[in-house]
Amino acid sequence: MLQLSRSVARASRACRAFSAGIDASKLQVIKTTTPQILPPPEKLTFGELFSDHMLEIDWTADDGWAAPVIKPTGNFSLHPAICGLHYAVQCFEGAKAYKDESGALRTFRLDMNLKRMNDSMSRSGMPGLTESDQEELGKLVRELVRIDNHMVPDAPGYSLYLRPTAIGTHVALGLTPPRAVKWYCITCPVGPYFKTGFKPVKLLASDEYTRAFYGGTGAYKVGANYGTGIMPFTECAKQGFSQILWLLPEGDDFLITEVGTMNLFVSWVNEKGEKELITAPLGELVLPGVTRDSIITISKATGINVAERRFYWSEFAKALSENRVLEVFGAGTAAIVAPVDAISFRGEMLQIPCDEKVGSGPLAKFFYDEISAMQRGAKPSPSEKPWSMVI
Ligand SMILES: Cc1ncc(COP(=O)(O)O)c(C=O)c1O
Repeated sequence: MLQLSRSVARASRACRAFSAGIDASKLQVIKTTTPQILPPPEKLTFGELFSDHMLEIDWTADDGWAAPVIKPTGNFSLHPAICGLHYAVQCFEGAKAYKDESGALRTFRLDMNLKRMNDSMSRSGMPGLTESDQEELGKLVRELVRIDNHMVPDAPGYSLYLRPTAIGTHVALGLTPPRAVKWYCITCPVGPYFKTGFKPVKLLASDEYTRAFYGGTGAYKVGANYGTGIMPFTECAKQGFSQILWLLPEGDDFLITEVGTMNLFVSWVNEKGEKELITAPLGELVLPGVTRDSIITISKATGINVAERRFYWSEFAKALSENRVLEVFGAGTAAIVAPVDAISFRGEMLQIPCDEKVGSGPLAKFFYDEISAMQRGAKPSPSEKPWSMVI
């Protein structure tokens, strides 16, 4: 205990040795004296068990980024007036680390998450992350995974969920850019989204609530986008649906944007008679998903006709009535893909084609298999820079 408090004191002195940019070589590591034993896979529920260590880096406008610290996961002591608690000056990321068949640890496209975090931090008024900061954070997060190696499950479909987070810690009630920020990363061992194969989800298309709007923050991973989705989601769950299909009213029609906390893909035969995989374009309304980008890149490399284009509820409903919709699925880090077999809109339940035996359509299964294999390095990624990086 005494040794631990000396280490904490050493680390807090280290925190005062400020540097302008994030510098992984200044890392201080304080290891727990009571490491956990990873529970059996069936006991893992999403986001409830946290690994032994966390990464923490403080920033102030006067001194820049302090030396990074990896220390036992524990509570923060924060002033009740910090802007993170009052004005949602906060953002986060969701990525995963894996153990491959040889037992090596890997991360998947973490650079994309850190780049997106730069955008979210800047949009929230916090300092951005320079390219060098992003690279240093990549090294530090990988070091955190290495230290908590014993918490990374190795069964297929299991992984270590990484939750990089930034909060404004500036103590003032005035609405000003924060002069202090805490950047940290916690991790959780997690199981597959669908434990026993695909289970297609039923969606409620909402014309009552919108997730994102022009000029808003829909393209950023800021906590405020998610907390305000809880009440609509609870209403949707009460009616027996798994996720909300987020629509944005436009004239008499609705733009189709995303599903729950996933990007949406529709495979259909378009009005021109071409088979096409369509998803909403990036911009103000859609989060630039890492999985979305992986699906688009794989599609282009394998000759699947993919389109990033605005599309409307009326077009989708017409295509469904003309039997031109082939399959619908969500895409995100948690599930990789989540097949959809029904969508309810204004009280009418619309059935979506879905192979009952597989629990999905052919493309959802194809992308799930491809991306799972790439995450574990069992297949090369269709890119110059490998997506899966050995730690
Ligand atoms: C609103 C929203 N859309 C899409 C995604 C999928 O993004 P990713 O593939 O990076 O997990 C997420 C999850 O982070 C999300 O919260």
